[in-house]
Amino acid sequence: MKHIDYKNKKLQFASTDIQAIAQKHKTPFFLYSEEILSKNYLDFYQAAFKAGLHAPLVCFALKSNPNRELLKILAKLGSGADIVSGGELKRALEAGITPDKIVFSGVGKTEEEILFALKTSPQGIFSFNVESLEELELINLCAKKTKRTARVCFRLNPEVQPKTHKHISTGNKTHKFGILQNEILNSLKEKKYWTHSKLVGLSIHIGSQLLDLRATKRALITLSEVALKTNLPLEFLDVGGGLGVDYHPDESPKLPHVNDYMELISSTLNKHFYSKTTLQPRVVFEPGRRIVARAGIFVMKVLRNKVSEDNHFVIVDGGMNDFMRPSLYGAYHHLLPVRESKATKKCHVVGPICETTDCFASGRLMPLLKSGDFLVLMDTGAYGFSMGSNYNLRGRPLELLVDKKRKVKVVNKAQEYDVLL
Ligand code: LLP
Repeated sequence: MKHIDYKNKKLQFASTDIQAIAQKHKTPFFLYSEEILSKNYLDFYQAAFKAGLHAPLVCFALKSNPNRELLKILAKLGSGADIVSGGELKRALEAGITPDKIVFSGVGKTEEEILFALKTSPQGIFSFNVESLEELELINLCAKKTKRTARVCFRLNPEVQPKTHKHISTGNKTHKFGILQNEILNSLKEKKYWTHSKLVGLSIHIGSQLLDLRATKRALITLSEVALKTNLPLEFLDVGGGLGVDYHPDESPKLPHVNDYMELISSTLNKHFYSKTTLQPRVVFEPGRRIVARAGIFVMKVLRNKVSEDNHFVIVDGGMNDFMRPSLYGAYHHLLPVRESKATKKCHVVGPICETTDCFASGRLMPLLKSGDFLVLMDTGAYGFSMGSNYNLRGRPLELLVDKKRKVKVVNKAQEYDVLL
């Protein structure tokens, strides 16, 4: 789907005219597309099926975008949720995602959050993805208190080093995530952990924005080996999230097709796990970015230009508090003017925040833009709004959705001073 393109020199997103929307609403804002979101989810789910994976369960990672309306769309399509806090749990439930499709990850679950998750239903949630033995002890205790049996899964640290930005790499023993295999296997012999907990699965998540899947394959092999060594009738293998998108044109040739990703998972698990056992655990996924990054754009208005000798700054009304990826990871995001015009000048596109890193593009070839022109930052549906802040006491931006009938709806109001202050 060519989801963003010019028609009569006017930029269209999901077949709607951005200029018209921007003239009607307060900038900056995120604009999401129901059509793209649904397609991404269904492509992902169907590819898992096509690759022959058994009863796949796709648990959308809420941290990438917890917008209520987007979650309702995903819930209706059958999605589960990967959550990392009580807030995300509440949001997932409110959106209609049932506890039997919720996995709870994260190294710092609190007692309050664990109790909340256990009480969501008589069985609790689908799984606590446990990140340490101390956490397991607490879960077991909470389950006893609530007279339930906690369904737990160990997050295995497979000791791999995927090729991605070091801030979003999670699969090595130097990282705080997951448990080493010996510790997992030894814990199975210790009765104290298991009085009110049951091991139902094993999971991995080695990092995010993965374009090279060699480390994923190695991690899947370790996952298979450890799963067999547990000698337990596991109900599922959770392969985590992490599949990347092509933010930069240079990344496009490397981008794994979702069918190839599923094929890799299927063939690796078949060879190293399913062929060696009669068990048929289902496969759980925790994708975030691949489902929602492309389903969102960030629309900003040019405030003014500023020229300091050779340096041409285009100052926009969106800032790093609204969209952090460029300032936090040096991430590249494509920028497009809403009115098509030829790029002629190398510019720095910067926000109003008092930090030098508040910069969406440095030395980028841009058309001449003037005050009041609109600019789109692409592929901002994932880790956009969810990572935003009120830094510099700026209100959080508006979120809009183009629905299937091409109607534009407000799905989260801009935060005004009466709420902010
Ligand atoms: N599962 C777990 C346990 C995770 O920690 C994450 C992401 C995911 C699933 C979803 O990963 P995805 O499919 O979205 O790659 N803020 C960073 C990304 C941080 C990812 C954190 N964990 C960014 O903007 O690139």
